[in-house]
Amino acid sequence: MANVIDGKKLSEDILAKVKQETAILREQHNIQPGIAVIIVGEDSASKVYVASKEKRAEECGFLSNKYELDEKTSEADLLALVKELNEDKNIHGILVQLPLPAHINADHVIQTISPDKDVDGFHYINAGKIMTGAIGDAFVPCTPAGIMVMVEHGLGKDLSGLDAVVVGRSNIVGKPVAALLLAANATVTIAHSRTREIDDVCRSADILVAAVGKPEMIKGDWIKPGATVIDVGINRVPAPEKGQGKTRLVGDVDYKAAEKVAGFITPVPGGVGPMTIAMLMANTLKAACKANNLPLPKIS
Ligand code: GUN
Repeated sequence: MANVIDGKKLSEDILAKVKQETAILREQHNIQPGIAVIIVGEDSASKVYVASKEKRAEECGFLSNKYELDEKTSEADLLALVKELNEDKNIHGILVQLPLPAHINADHVIQTISPDKDVDGFHYINAGKIMTGAIGDAFVPCTPAGIMVMVEHGLGKDLSGLDAVVVGRSNIVGKPVAALLLAANATVTIAHSRTREIDDVCRSADILVAAVGKPEMIKGDWIKPGATVIDVGINRVPAPEKGQGKTRLVGDVDYKAAEKVAGFITPVPGGVGPMTIAMLMANTLKAACKANNLPLPKIS
């Protein structure tokens, strides 16, 4: 049976460190990290994510400002808010929750956020730093950063000689996590919906990162015995066994089968999800330190 990498526990350790360093920052320098979270419209999953980001930010001792904008907000008004927050000395991190309504060009919005306040790590400047190996100087996107903490927990920092397969090529997870695995010396393949014999590709992986958003797509017999399996998927599926109309969360990996084969595995829920929010808090603390030319605290 695989060792379970407990994302809840790991994230609690990171949040405790962030909280401690935030208290030091306030005591020694009278600086309070501040995050602004913007949500446009009524997407119910986004509302849940934003509420937990706000809760964690407050627990860390941050200033946390939430902007809930109407579904019909124009792109111009949203860009004006982002520009105002770029200039706000009390705000060190800006996060615009995705997806945005179809009439707003998400890329325009992301590229308008100051790269120094881009705690999501989505701006071209931060993406470019990650691709070119200037990782220490970048804001690393939160889910990939959390994944790397989990991989390191199982395998250590140097992945030399290991084959990693990332299933999914999104800008939020697949591409940046592939760059981080490469920077840690893994040999990296990115697989996606157009990949041929994707099951065989997965079978070659010592480290398998599943980030496709397809419930239980990765089967137990796609996994190399002893592999480290990181499941990024959070999929809600019907659960008639719990009663009529009930649902449950599953990952992109068939967990029950995979845990019998893998060496390390992350559960859903309680795996990558809590790590993402913890890394957002770590990025916000980092942004506050950078803005004030202070050394960056070691968090993970
Ligand atoms: N929507 C889903 N994941 C994310 C994320 O990490 N950041 C933002 N801003 N929106 C998201």
